[in-house]
Amino acid sequence: MRYKNILSLVLLFCASVIHAQNNNSGVQLKKADGFPQLLINGKPFLILGGELGNSSASNTGYLKPGWKYLQQMYLNTVLVPVYWELLEPEENKFDFTLIDGMIADARQHNMKIVFLWFGTWKNSMSCYAPLWMKKNAKRFPRTQDTSGRSQEIFSVFGKETLEADKKAFATLMRHTKEIDANEKTVIMVQVENEIGMLPTPREFSKTADSYFNAKLPTELISYLQKNKNNLVPELREKWEKQNFKTNDTWTTTFGEGVLTDEIFQAWYYAKYTNEVTLAGKKEYDLPMYVNAALPRPGKLPGQYPSAGPLPQVMDIWQAGAPALNMLSPDFYNPNTKYWCDLYVRNNNTLFVPEMQFDKTCAAKAFFIIGHYKAIGFSPFSIESENSAYIPLAKTYDIMQQLTPFIANKQWLNMDGFLLDKQNRSTTIKMGQYNLVVSHEATLSWSSEAKDSVWSTTGGIILQTAPDEFLIAGTGVVVTFENTDKNMVSNIAAVDEVSYENGKEIKGRRMNGDQDHQGRHIRFSVGDWGIQKVQLYNSPAKIDN
Ligand code: DGJ
Repeated sequence: MRYKNILSLVLLFCASVIHAQNNNSGVQLKKADGFPQLLINGKPFLILGGELGNSSASNTGYLKPGWKYLQQMYLNTVLVPVYWELLEPEENKFDFTLIDGMIADARQHNMKIVFLWFGTWKNSMSCYAPLWMKKNAKRFPRTQDTSGRSQEIFSVFGKETLEADKKAFATLMRHTKEIDANEKTVIMVQVENEIGMLPTPREFSKTADSYFNAKLPTELISYLQKNKNNLVPELREKWEKQNFKTNDTWTTTFGEGVLTDEIFQAWYYAKYTNEVTLAGKKEYDLPMYVNAALPRPGKLPGQYPSAGPLPQVMDIWQAGAPALNMLSPDFYNPNTKYWCDLYVRNNNTLFVPEMQFDKTCAAKAFFIIGHYKAIGFSPFSIESENSAYIPLAKTYDIMQQLTPFIANKQWLNMDGFLLDKQNRSTTIKMGQYNLVVSHEATLSWSSEAKDSVWSTTGGIILQTAPDEFLIAGTGVVVTFENTDKNMVSNIAAVDEVSYENGKEIKGRRMNGDQDHQGRHIRFSVGDWGIQKVQLYNSPAKIDN
């Protein structure tokens, strides 16, 4: 038994050495006991980010006044577009002015960068491809709309398009390594942007049809067979209905219809993106991901950008693009829980690169990081003037104080919650306790109790010792129950706390009205904070 343990330790050590050798950037995505960590030089980092509006990185002067504002929001990372048309305005002539400028400015403001490679596709279209490519449809074939007219979308089957993208992306990564490998300002890269086919569920052309009518690639078949029992149900069911066929065309394997068109297109998007990713990683092996435009309810592939890295085809993307580290959802809808639940399947690490920048972001950041163990969060158009910046700054301030606990996994249990009028209360079990977490407006005497609209509120809870919790957030009330009905749990002490580089600074003792005379802990709507709670237990029945 002892030898077995030693042997597995040795194997684990070898595996981590091999992994470290494979990774030439010093930035890695890892899972420690199922908890995802982004490591920079071995140190966990939590992305408190924001994505720039599409055009804001096309001129370094434009953003100069904005950096201060980003710092005031407690951002530690900016998601920055890199535009292929401006990087390679003439074939094989590269201009790194914007790259160098953004890196220099980020460093000056003590921030990290995630580059967004606006390459072959940006929101389905190919608007950021260089003009010398757009003008040469013979060399760089385009897709067609339903009437057969050429669209400004490069075909996934364009071999020269792929080679050109690989070359440009590899050049970007080589340059980034040259100027940044020591400082590691750039920590991650998004490959392409919201890939997806419009307005048809797949490409229709002679070339596309010949691939579509061919047998399924053996590489995909072996993946399906190997992962048969772990496929997402949406995909498995389609395959099962066709009796798990393994040596046939796309329609005989998955059935007729637009959903199969989507699977087909997703495979070729994934293969293409994988090659671009590999070309970049070969130069500089930063973690890389793709992002997805989430469909509106009731829409079919082609009515929404078909075949992007969406939940129903996540197996296809994972099979076709194993070089990618994550598939990430972009949120412009309110169904945060629904989509996040889908994106943490198949061992996918959650990172939210885009979210509509509104007041709910402040609560959603707590929830997404606390509940889904996301490695980061990032509202879109972060530099824009927006009143949502104040609540987000309050959340990010707290999250950066708690980062040493969260990212280093200095907790026994961690969870996050999101509350509104429809979702008023939730119970979270941690150790021997049930924590009943409710919207502050559930208290009849709270300011929002009688309003028709309740603010979206949220928070994060870390159990730091069996009877100790750090609770942070806004607009919430928490009560504590013992899971053993023979015991009652009460508050021993509640302290307002803050942290500087992990060092605790004690604030007020929150007894009396602040904890409702020992009944609960509370953050009012509009207040943000961290409270440290100690509990004690006593028998439920005492024979006096
Ligand atoms: C999602 C895209 O990924 C962004 O680049 C931007 O176009 C936003 N949509 C706009 O809402």
